[in-house]
Amino acid sequence: MIRVNPHYSKLAASYLFSTIAKKVKEYQDSHPEANIIRMGIGDVTLPLPKACIQAFHEGVEEMASEKTFKGYGPEQGYPFLREAIATHDFQTRGISIQADEIFVSDGAKCDTGNFQELFAQDIRIAVPDPVYPVYVDTNVMAGRTGSFQNHRYEGLVYLESTEENGFVPSPPKEEVDLIYLCFPNNPTGAVASRAQLEEWVEYAHRHHALILFDAAYEAYIRDPSIPHSIYEVSGAEEVSVEFRSYSKTAGFTGTRCAYTVVPKKVKVYDEGGRVVSLRDMWNRRHTTKFNGVSYPVQKAAAAIYTEEGKRQVQANIDYYLENARIIRERMNSLGFPCTGGDNSPYIWVKTGQDSWSFFDFLLGKAQVVVTPGSGFGRCGEGYIRISAYNSRQNVLEAMERISRLKGSL
Ligand code: MLT
Repeated sequence: MIRVNPHYSKLAASYLFSTIAKKVKEYQDSHPEANIIRMGIGDVTLPLPKACIQAFHEGVEEMASEKTFKGYGPEQGYPFLREAIATHDFQTRGISIQADEIFVSDGAKCDTGNFQELFAQDIRIAVPDPVYPVYVDTNVMAGRTGSFQNHRYEGLVYLESTEENGFVPSPPKEEVDLIYLCFPNNPTGAVASRAQLEEWVEYAHRHHALILFDAAYEAYIRDPSIPHSIYEVSGAEEVSVEFRSYSKTAGFTGTRCAYTVVPKKVKVYDEGGRVVSLRDMWNRRHTTKFNGVSYPVQKAAAAIYTEEGKRQVQANIDYYLENARIIRERMNSLGFPCTGGDNSPYIWVKTGQDSWSFFDFLLGKAQVVVTPGSGFGRCGEGYIRISAYNSRQNVLEAMERISRLKGSL
């Protein structure tokens, strides 16, 4: 008899953004005339930068000729992209990450979801609350948690991110082995200072733990004092893996390209307490289960490191950050305290009302889709997340519609 993975039955309902998409579709089906503005899932709306498009075309042309055609590429990514990443994203910031510590992939969602495979079954795991659901759900699927009780999985350590701590949790009192952090944060938009990251790196050293640092939104940081990479903190290369993505940086949500940094210096341990190479383990996993991102896509990604690519990427991010500023100011003026939106494309809005009811209310009365905060965890109750990814016109229109509801908000 074929039996299924029993841990799947512990998963709460469907994946958050699938549930939202289903609700929105139901609403649209029953209100075909409604002009719904989607500010829920963080999906970019601007086209790929011109430099990327041009490189993409060149890559496709190369595939059209026998002389330049490419079959399987290196699973870890083409050297031209890995070297550009090492130089532009790290070495220019004084970080000594090398090209062979970079693994190009088709998304930070997949990488943050897959990375847990490398660890023992009984490790202790800390996740933020609220949290990007992928970190939690993939550990549930792997059988590292108990059941879902009172909006939390048994066996996980939840790092509460609240108004009181500015949505940046400190290391826990207890000992954990694996820590998921995301800054600029999804969903709260909060950023971690150097001192706060130093605290985490120090904790990881003290407990021989590992930090999985999701930096998918680093390109939105405007405050020069905020680190873009955990490796800006001394000693982080021994205790951290970093995930980056071109999705939100350069509009690759539909094109798919990202990368993971696994430094050779990272220290993880086997059953006998001996240090083993996590970089080599990820290399083994990656080469077994992944066959590389397509050549034209990697060409397109590398183009963001050219002078014109950098300018175009910057312009797109400035556009979204201006959207974020508009959203934040308007929600503030309606009396809702907000965080994020200054170094991040997400605005975390305190409504003080049941998150899903507020979601339904905005969909029903304003035809505006947001993400209910409680979908990200217990600490998200009473909040909504608004994404700045949309056209300026739609953002202004959405804010107008919400403002018109002022008396009933
Ligand atoms: C989000 O809206 O949280 C993100 O778009 C999800 C993702 O990047 O997978």
